[in-house]
Amino acid sequence: MKLFRKKSMDFMMRQTGGTNGLQKALGAFDLTMLGVGAVIGTGIFVMTGIVAAKGAGPAIIFSFIFSGIACAFAALCYAEFAAMIPASGSAYTYSYATFGELLAWILGWDLILEYGLACSVVASGWSAYFQELIRGFGISLPKVISSAYSPANGTYVDVMAVLIVLILSAVLLTGVKQSSRINDVMVIVKIGVVLLFIVVGAFYVRPSNWSPFMPYGLKGVMQGAATAFLAYIGFDAVSSASEEVRKPQRDMPIGILTSLGICMVLYIAVSAVLTGMIPYTKLNVGDPVAFALRFVHQNWVAGFVSLGAILGITTVLFVMMYGQTRLFFAISRDGLLPKGISKLTKKSKTPTYCILLTWLMATVFSAVIPLNELAELTNIGTLFAFIVVAIGVAVLRITQPDLKRTFKVPFLPVVSVLAVLSCGYLMINLTGITWVRFIIWFVLGLVLYFSYGFHHSVLGKNEIKLAKSEG
Ligand code: ALA
Repeated sequence: MKLFRKKSMDFMMRQTGGTNGLQKALGAFDLTMLGVGAVIGTGIFVMTGIVAAKGAGPAIIFSFIFSGIACAFAALCYAEFAAMIPASGSAYTYSYATFGELLAWILGWDLILEYGLACSVVASGWSAYFQELIRGFGISLPKVISSAYSPANGTYVDVMAVLIVLILSAVLLTGVKQSSRINDVMVIVKIGVVLLFIVVGAFYVRPSNWSPFMPYGLKGVMQGAATAFLAYIGFDAVSSASEEVRKPQRDMPIGILTSLGICMVLYIAVSAVLTGMIPYTKLNVGDPVAFALRFVHQNWVAGFVSLGAILGITTVLFVMMYGQTRLFFAISRDGLLPKGISKLTKKSKTPTYCILLTWLMATVFSAVIPLNELAELTNIGTLFAFIVVAIGVAVLRITQPDLKRTFKVPFLPVVSVLAVLSCGYLMINLTGITWVRFIIWFVLGLVLYFSYGFHHSVLGKNEIKLAKSEG
C-alpha cells in the first residue's frame, strides 16, 4: 500500500505555503506568453515542410487540426488540475494526489524525459538555424564543433547548443519575474513574425497547389498528426508554473487554454498558406517557412522570418528548461530525488541547484548525443502524461468530489475518454523503436525509485512519524 500513498491537499498546501514555496509573481498574461513561448518553435518552423512533403501533403492542415483537438481535450484536464492544485510539478504532482506515489514517480520520470529531450532537440535545432544565419555573413564554425558527436560525419561537439543552454540557464538564475519579462518580449516578436508570414504569404497562395489535397490518404494525415504533435508540446509546461502564480485559480485555465488556442489558429493558418504558396513536394527542407518566401522572391521577409524563428526556438528552449527545473524542484522537495537539490535562494526564491542540474543535463545531451531520432521519444512521453492527466481528472472527481474546483472540465468523463482515445491513437502511430526506448527508460526509473525514492519519500517519513505519535 505504501506504493500508493497519496498527498492530501493539506499536505501540499503546507509544502508550498509560507517560506517553503516559490515566489508568486506571475499573472494570466505571463502564463499565456509562457505557453505560446513553449509551443511555437521547431514544430512549425522546421517540421511542417517535412510532414507536408513526406506524409500528409496539403492535408497537413488536417494533421494540425487533429493533433490540436487531441491537445485541447488534454488541455481542459490540465486546466482543472492546475487551478485546483497550485503546486509545482505539473502532471507529477497531480498524479501524487490522485494515484499515489508510484505512479507519480513514473510520471515525474516520464516528464524528465519529455523536458530533457525536448531541451536537447530544440537546442540542436537552434544551433542549426543560428549557424545557417551566420553563414549568410560569411562566418562558419569549424566542422568538429558544429554538431553533436558523430565521428563518421567529422563532428564531435555542438558548441552553439552548449552556448545557448548556458545563456538561458543564466537567465533562469535571475529569478522567475525577470525571466518571464524577457520571455514576454521574445514571444511578442515571434507572434509578429508568424503573422507576417501569414499575411505576406496569403498574397501568393495558388489554390492549384492544394491539389491533390491528400496525396498519401488518411494514413498520411494521421502519421503527420503524430509527428506534428511535437509542435503543440509546451502548453502543458504552463502548468509547471502554477506555484508561482498570484491567482492560480483564475489564471491557470486562462493561460493554458488561451495559449493553446492561439497556437492552433496560427498553425492551421501557417500550414494552409505554406502549402498554398508552393507545391508540397518541394517542401522537404530544413527551413520551409523561410524557403517558401524565398520561392516567391520575398527575400527580405524570409530574412525576418529566419531571425524570428531563432528567437522563437529560443523561447521554446527557455520554457522547456524552466519546466525541467520546476519538475526537479517538486520531485526533490518530496524526497524522491535528493532533498538538497530543491534548496531555494533566500531573496528571489530561485531553485539554483535545479537550474544547475537542468543545465548539466541539457548540455551533455545536446552537446554530444545526436538526438534527431530521439525526438519521437519526446512525443510518446508527453502523450503518456496527457493520458494519465485525463484519467486522473475524472478519478479525482469521484474520489475527492468536495475539493474546490474553480474550473471544471465540461462533459466529464466524455472529454477524458476522448483525450485518452485521441492521444492513445497518436501514440500507436509512433514507431516500434520509440516504444522500446520508452520502456527501457521506465525500467531505469523503477530501479531508481526502489533503490532511492521509496526509502527517502517525505510523505513516507511523515506517515511513519504520524503513526508513531498516534501509537
Ligand atoms: N512545441 C515545441 C516546438 O515546436 C516543442 O518547438
